[in-house]
Amino acid sequence: MSRTTDLKDLQGRHILLGLSGGIACYKAADLCRELVKAGATVQVVMTEAAAQFITPVTLQALSGRPVYTSQWDARPGNNMAHIELSRAADALLVAPASADFIAQLVQGRAGDLLSLLCLARPIERCPLLLAPAMNREMWLHPATQRNVAQAQADGARVLGPGSGAQACGETGDGRMLEAAELRDALIAFFQPQLLAGRRVLVTAGPTFEAIDPVRGITNLSSGKMGFAIARAAAEAGAQVTLVAGPVHLPTPMGVQRIDVTSAQQMFDAVLPAAPAHDIFVATAAVADWRPAQPNAHKIKKDGKKLAPSFDLVENPDILAAVARLPAAQRPWCVGFAAESQDLARHAREKLQRKGVPLVVGNLGPATFGRDDNTLLLVDAAGERELPPGDKLSLARELVREIAQRMSTR
Ligand code: C5P
Repeated sequence: MSRTTDLKDLQGRHILLGLSGGIACYKAADLCRELVKAGATVQVVMTEAAAQFITPVTLQALSGRPVYTSQWDARPGNNMAHIELSRAADALLVAPASADFIAQLVQGRAGDLLSLLCLARPIERCPLLLAPAMNREMWLHPATQRNVAQAQADGARVLGPGSGAQACGETGDGRMLEAAELRDALIAFFQPQLLAGRRVLVTAGPTFEAIDPVRGITNLSSGKMGFAIARAAAEAGAQVTLVAGPVHLPTPMGVQRIDVTSAQQMFDAVLPAAPAHDIFVATAAVADWRPAQPNAHKIKKDGKKLAPSFDLVENPDILAAVARLPAAQRPWCVGFAAESQDLARHAREKLQRKGVPLVVGNLGPATFGRDDNTLLLVDAAGERELPPGDKLSLARELVREIAQRMSTR
């Protein structure tokens, strides 16, 4: 099943979605829908100011639950909405969190239902996430910066803000993150922090080896598996660097991306970076060969039906070079084997030839460009198959396997 139709990463989670006043309330409607689509149940709470920007009717329709706006709402049996609502919640996400709302929070003020909820929630069981949204001057003001730092010190997780054009016509920091970004941040928030403090380097996608200015040698790798691994590692708390060949995929949140085209460029990006990382996962489908001398101009047909010929030279093996670094500089290496048959045999052969502790085999023609895959983990201890699944779920399992091996080193 593809991720686009079956993205249920928040299944079983109950999210309290708080809206304080700000034009970004229009994005909160989309966010509510994204959370529901991801499998969460969502209880919306709005301040009076938020209701100036978007109506509770909209949020009720999208969440499928009546919206709470007042601490005097008599619906809860004990008439204590500020207590009851947070007790069942797995997280309280305030999006948008206005400058004024954050200021109230850090002072422990509880003048309306939403701030009351934040104060009365069980801190250990109901984490608070804030998605600030405000004009850039308001965001940069020392009072706001002081308040945000204090909110973080009090345990709140701050998501964003983003930067760019603002509704007021100015440009700068203070935009609320987009609905999909906030959804993904929430999904990441619930992942176990198995790689906290680790630095992970990932290569992904194909490479492109120029023949002339308009043609080249490449392959069918889409980069999806490598991008999923980069995302899963970041979700698990790692600091991730992703060296990507030519692909059209969005950068996973929190991941530092370096774009390259050829194998040599990938080698030049990876080798100096490798010693600063604890783990290296080589998912890229690197071209084995490149034209020795790319033509300066487009090669034309010569009219005699003679095919052009050109010499090929071997590209450097990036994974093998990293695996050969001196022990003190060498990250823990994971290789990939994209084969068309005899997966286990080829993967084991690669394990030995490349001198790495883990090789992950997959069938190239069956997975290139698709959203799902099957992985075969091959190491000195044996083999283990990760059964068919979407690439992100498999990447999370692979991260678990890597974390386990790292902890017993
Ligand atoms: O050598 P082969 O292509 O069979 O091995 C595949 C593994 O080696 C993958 O992990 C791939 O990313 C890596 N590789 C590399 N540099 C190359 C060729 C492959 O890092 N030039």
